[in-house]
Amino acid sequence: MNNFIFQNPTKLIFGKGSISELTNEISKDKKVMLTFGGGSVKTNGVYNQVVAALKGYTLVEFWGIEPNPKIETLRKAVEIGKAEKVDFIVAVGGGSTLDGTKLIAAAIPYASDAWELVLNPKLITTAIPFASIMTLPATGSEMNAGAVISNLATQEKFAFHAYYPQFSILDPEVTYSLPPFQIACGIADTFVHVMEQYLTFPGQSLLMDRWAEGILKTLTEIAPEIDENPQDYDLMSNYMLCATMALNGFIAMGVAQDWATHMIGHELTVLHGLTHGESLAILLPATMTVLSEQKKAKILQYGERIWNITKGTEGVRVAEAIARTESFFSSLGLHTRLSELNIGEETIAEIEDRFNKRGVKFGEGKNVNGAVARVILECCL
Ligand code: NZQ
Ligand code: ZN
Repeated sequence: MNNFIFQNPTKLIFGKGSISELTNEISKDKKVMLTFGGGSVKTNGVYNQVVAALKGYTLVEFWGIEPNPKIETLRKAVEIGKAEKVDFIVAVGGGSTLDGTKLIAAAIPYASDAWELVLNPKLITTAIPFASIMTLPATGSEMNAGAVISNLATQEKFAFHAYYPQFSILDPEVTYSLPPFQIACGIADTFVHVMEQYLTFPGQSLLMDRWAEGILKTLTEIAPEIDENPQDYDLMSNYMLCATMALNGFIAMGVAQDWATHMIGHELTVLHGLTHGESLAILLPATMTVLSEQKKAKILQYGERIWNITKGTEGVRVAEAIARTESFFSSLGLHTRLSELNIGEETIAEIEDRFNKRGVKFGEGKNVNGAVARVILECCL
């Protein structure tokens, strides 16, 4: 096991009716900025619950943080936050609203342009404290310090890490209004977050393996049931907690991590608008295939423990584990091939070129460069 330092300061407030806890978490003298996406919280009653809980506070609202939040939109929120001198921010929405808010919080006290902070997070020295009401289980953003921001002008999408939410409220009932496609993408995203931290090589931590497998197994069990009963409280509670636990550092202690699938996925999203979870459903089976020699031992363990694959040669078992992974994503109703979306050589060449120019080396083996990304993308056709 590698050395590590673990500290996660986010307070989780979980359960039915827990949005009303807001008032116990933010002192009355704060000027609170509320940030929102495109309006789902108005139709599902979340907005009313938040405003009722914050009765008596001075509130400033910012609407319109879009999926894959754009720097162009966030700059407007930063301007308002500076002018209004807000001193606390609550993001009410999915991962995009919260990711955008993480940048807004860091950029309000920053004198220059917010995009500089995305490119160089070392410039972030302070931030306005913030919290979240998470309405979409997927990103784990509610309990991590990461955020992924897009730039329309330059067609770039980059992640940065800075501050954790002070607290996050998770009420599984707010997920009842999610469209099936967003649930499918959220389950795929959660699954791939675990795989990025798990599917490297065995023998690092018995405990991390079992925790990761526990999340994967839970997802494969609940996914078909959620499809039947998307308003079942216990099912959605389990899904919501899987998403949080998959990317809050708990399964990453002392182990190597991959993240190549995510890095290629961000390029597909910024170039073609693919929803994040679907980009991963397309890419992960291909990453597993192309790197199957390097990842063989762990793929065999994954196949046996998650899909009960115990028969056949190693080659047969590896192939079956990859096929089961792809059919799991298909069973969610997601595309798993680039050709289904008419994405081909032009995009592959563009991503290869970008990676070459940036000199990237992703993955636990630091060997996913432009050329390897090309082979992975070709394998998704
Ligand atoms: O904008 P509104 O109207 O709120 O609608 C949203 C949006 O259209 C809707 N939605 C959210 N909660 C809902 C709901 N609709 C009905 N009922 C609800 N309860 O869902 C749509 C998608 O929302 P979005 O926030 O974009 O989805 P998600 O949470 O999947 O976030 C995706 C973003 O997070 C980044 C992705 O790259 C992408 O930009 N990620 C962030 C990570 C992190 N912070 O650690 C890690 C991830 O790997 C990921 O990269
Ligand atoms: Zn993700």
